[in-house]
Amino acid sequence: MVSPAREKSHGSAPGKRTADSPSILLTNIRQLISLRGPVSPRRGRELSELGIIEDAAVLCVGGKIVSVGSRREAQRDAWIQRNRHRIRTVDCRGGVVLPGFVDSHTHPVFTEARLVDFEKRISGASYEGIAEAGGGIRSSLNGVRESSRKELSDHVLSALRRMSASGTTTVEAKSGYGLSMESEIKSLEAIRDAARQWPGTVVPTLLGAHVIPPEFRDRREDYVALICEKMIPEAARRKLAEYVDVFCERGAFAVQETQGILASAKHHGLATRVHICQLSEARLGDLAQFQPHSYDHMDFVTEVDLADLAKMNAVATLLPAANYFLGLQKYPPARNLIDAGVAVALATDYNPGSSPTTNMPFVLSIACTHMKMSPAEVITATTCNGACALRLQNRKGSIEPGKDADLAVFAVRDYREIAYWVAADLCSGTIAGGQLFSAASSTSIQFE
Ligand code: NIG
Ligand code: FE
Repeated sequence: MVSPAREKSHGSAPGKRTADSPSILLTNIRQLISLRGPVSPRRGRELSELGIIEDAAVLCVGGKIVSVGSRREAQRDAWIQRNRHRIRTVDCRGGVVLPGFVDSHTHPVFTEARLVDFEKRISGASYEGIAEAGGGIRSSLNGVRESSRKELSDHVLSALRRMSASGTTTVEAKSGYGLSMESEIKSLEAIRDAARQWPGTVVPTLLGAHVIPPEFRDRREDYVALICEKMIPEAARRKLAEYVDVFCERGAFAVQETQGILASAKHHGLATRVHICQLSEARLGDLAQFQPHSYDHMDFVTEVDLADLAKMNAVATLLPAANYFLGLQKYPPARNLIDAGVAVALATDYNPGSSPTTNMPFVLSIACTHMKMSPAEVITATTCNGACALRLQNRKGSIEPGKDADLAVFAVRDYREIAYWVAADLCSGTIAGGQLFSAASSTSIQFE
């Protein structure tokens, strides 16, 4: 263990959490999944290099990780001994500790479950067929438009709390069910309000370009103009969003419309990410000039695009819980992407239409069983590469000195069990920004 020489040097960018973040020593860790290594997206074999430390301990001070090593080193450490009285010790009970999950694609600003769509799909209707008949994304509009900012932020906060209960500490959160100037801005405000009450990190994204709302049905170019000329400038001016996303797909936004929206985002200083190739093929090169940090879904990505994508820093974010929930037989082609050298991430896509789950361990499990990713690869894809998809790799995604103290503790003896025990509730504690919040499970860890 390398102790903090001078504690002050560890408080450089701690944000809202420093003042009330105690020093924490996590100990009795059977496997610490450090993910130590380069702060760049991991590809190919690198996805399997977890940097496991057995019988480990981690010291966090002021919301940052300051040292990582064996439990024995921690026991002997002079700094820890001297400061014992002000360090809170967390006994991880021989469990597994990994970097908190980075859920880099979610749509949490909605109010109602879409139960009618659910039943229609069970009876054989398709996701696109339901959307064409007026269901789908458009059926979540009224709930958002009629709700107050406070009601929306309560919904977002409850989703964030469920996420952290299963090990997630960083979340990308999109608007996209308001689809008017007022309701998209209200949705982004709700995300910000909820984020302030949650110890983890939230990255807000404007998804005004989710679908064309009914009132613009016959004048879609006016809606695209509203996004470009009003929503994006306002979200940028008020710093309500870091990203602009577009659902670039048949039935949503065409490539040319997407290009206009992404150009406006860049013009106003916002970064970009896209929903692409979820339902049909598209050429990634058409959007490359806008440097999306992430291409999301990618079920129908074409072979010819893989080599170019492998050369980019952009991440392909795969969302298999949507395939699962929509009852599809086909899943995103993870093996083709990985073999081609593309950096892949995995996220929940939490939303009421195609993926009503906040549970990252469930996503890990699906990716192993249906996409033939290994248990090691899915850990890297949901931590390090998730952080890269949000360009947060300097702060998140591994357990190394200097990184944010964002950690998840699991009541298992081997990291592979996280993906193995399907839909289980084995996260026994989550630490974000150095703050411990207990998980719901009966195995919860406690301060000693
Ligand atoms: O990522 N595809 C677009 N957006 C979501 C679904 C949204 C919804 O159906 O409400 C997705 O799957
Ligand atoms: Fe999505």
